[in-house]
Amino acid sequence: MSTRFLPTSWRDYSLLDAGNGKRLERFGEVTTVRPDPFALWAPAGDASLWRAADATFEPTGRTHGKWRTAPGTPKRWPIRYKSEALDLVFELEMTQFKHVGLFPEQADNWEFIAANLGEGQRFLNLFAYTGGASLAARQVGADVVHCDAIRQVVDWTRVNMERSGLDGIRWVVEDALKFARREAKRGNTYHGIVLDPPTWGLGPKGEKWKLEDQLLELIDVVASLVAPGGFVVMNTYSGIPPSALETMWALALPGATIQSGELCLRAETGLDLSTGSLVRVTLS
Ligand SMILES: C[S@@+](CC[C@H](N)C(=O)[O-])C[C@H]1O[C@@H](n2cnc3c(N)ncnc32)[C@H](O)[C@@H]1O
Repeated sequence: MSTRFLPTSWRDYSLLDAGNGKRLERFGEVTTVRPDPFALWAPAGDASLWRAADATFEPTGRTHGKWRTAPGTPKRWPIRYKSEALDLVFELEMTQFKHVGLFPEQADNWEFIAANLGEGQRFLNLFAYTGGASLAARQVGADVVHCDAIRQVVDWTRVNMERSGLDGIRWVVEDALKFARREAKRGNTYHGIVLDPPTWGLGPKGEKWKLEDQLLELIDVVASLVAPGGFVVMNTYSGIPPSALETMWALALPGATIQSGELCLRAETGLDLSTGSLVRVTLS
C-alpha cells in the first residue's frame, strides 16, 4: 500500500462521510457538503446526516459556485486545532471556490513542521493560502516568511495569526516563483520550506503560474534555498503522482531522504479519502 499521511489530532474537524463525488464534513459548529472528484464510491454513512448538513456547495462553473445554507448558519466562524505540539485557531468563511479557508488534511504537515523546526530557525511558506503551515512554524518559535499572491488571503492569515495568539510573521504578497528566485540570488537559505503550488494561478502583477510549465524550475530554485539539515514539504492537489514528485526532488537534491505518498483524510466510516500527493525531503 502506498504511504498515507493522515492527520490524527483534529477534534473540531471531522470527515463524516464521502461518496457519490462529494464529502460531508464538520468544521466546528458547521457541517458542509462539497464536491470531491476522488470520492468515487457510494457513501457508507447514514443518509440522514447528509440531509441535515448546514451548507451545501453547488458548482455553477468549473471553479466557482454558490453555497446553499440552512437558516442560522454563520457566515464566519472559528475552528481550533489542538494537539500536543500545537494550539491554532482559524477563522472560516464559505468562499465561491468551494473552500472555507482551511485544508484540514494539512494538519499532518503542521505536525511534521512543529517536530522538525526550532526556535529562531528560518521557515518559508510558498503559495501559503490562509497559513496553517506558517502558524505551526511560528508557534514553535521559527522566523516565518509567508508568501501568497492575494492580499486578501494574506489579511485573512493575519486574523488567524492573531486569533492563535501569535505575531511576527513576515508577509510577502508576491509571485512565489519570483520571490524564490530573488531569495536564491540573495543567497538566503531556510531550514524548512513548504510549498503547495496550484495547477494554475496568478501573481499579484498578473504573472502566470502554470504548474506543468514551471514546476521543474520551481523545484530547482527551492532546492537551492534549503539549508544543510533542513527540509522541504511539497504537496499538490493537481494530480501529479507521488512517485513523479519523488523523482523530481531526488534529481534536484541527490542524497536527500525522501518520503512520498498521498495526503488523506480518514472518514468516520473508516474509509480514506485521498486529497493530493505529498513529498517530504530531508537533507543530511
Ligand atoms: C492550494 S492553495 C494552498 C493551500 C495551503 N497548502 C494551505 O494549507 O492552506 C494555493 C495558494 O496559492 C496562491 N497562489 C496562486 N498563484 C500564485 C502565485 N503565482 N504566487 C503566489 N501564490 C499564488 C493562491 O492565492 C492560494 O492561496
